[in-house]
Amino acid sequence: MNNVYTVAVLVGSLRKQSINRKVALALAGLAPASLKLTIIEIGDLPLYSEDLDAGEPPAAYKVFREQVRATDAVLFVTPEYNRSVPGVLKNAIDVGSRPYGKSVWGGKPGAVISVSPGAIGGFGANHHLRQSLVFLDVPCMQQPEAYLGGAGSAFDEAGHLSESVKPFLQSFINAYGHWVERYRKA
Ligand code: FNR
Repeated sequence: MNNVYTVAVLVGSLRKQSINRKVALALAGLAPASLKLTIIEIGDLPLYSEDLDAGEPPAAYKVFREQVRATDAVLFVTPEYNRSVPGVLKNAIDVGSRPYGKSVWGGKPGAVISVSPGAIGGFGANHHLRQSLVFLDVPCMQQPEAYLGGAGSAFDEAGHLSESVKPFLQSFINAYGHWVERYRKA
């Protein structure tokens, strides 16, 4: 039997009707059989301070770190806020990176898809996020790049994914499946 790799999906929006969350769920449905995608919630993580790690860390930190550590790979689905990464996602990345020397990120094959109703598809957030992933030693898929612009029309009112967007998401998640296999088999 072929391996199945678990993927932690981090969504950079807490909004109930988040388009990014819908994209994350769509990707979970389109993913090849080799990937099992699970959204890991980041909304209840206290803002990172090293003081919180000085003693017993907050329960939410412990749960989050264990959840990410237990997975084989990590996928970021994020909006762009003011041409960068939303604070809630950056906070989760920071929480996972500490205590020093105990980062949960290192070596997990990653990918980024940015999603925006705007025309340039969250390019700024996508690339600022990649900057952190270099430091965190996350081998991040280079191609295909994924900037989903005009995403306000990606789902109809019933929540169904547009047929015109589906091939884009399908090719992205298929390529990511190969990326994960390549790194986990190495
Ligand atoms: C935005 N939005 C936005 N969009 C964009 O393309 N570039 C940007 O720099 C910003 N900046 C920004 C800042 C803040 C504080 C908010 C709340 C929003 C708009 C954003 O793309 C839009 O609200 C998306 O719908 C957010 O994604 P979700 O919540 O639908 O997943």
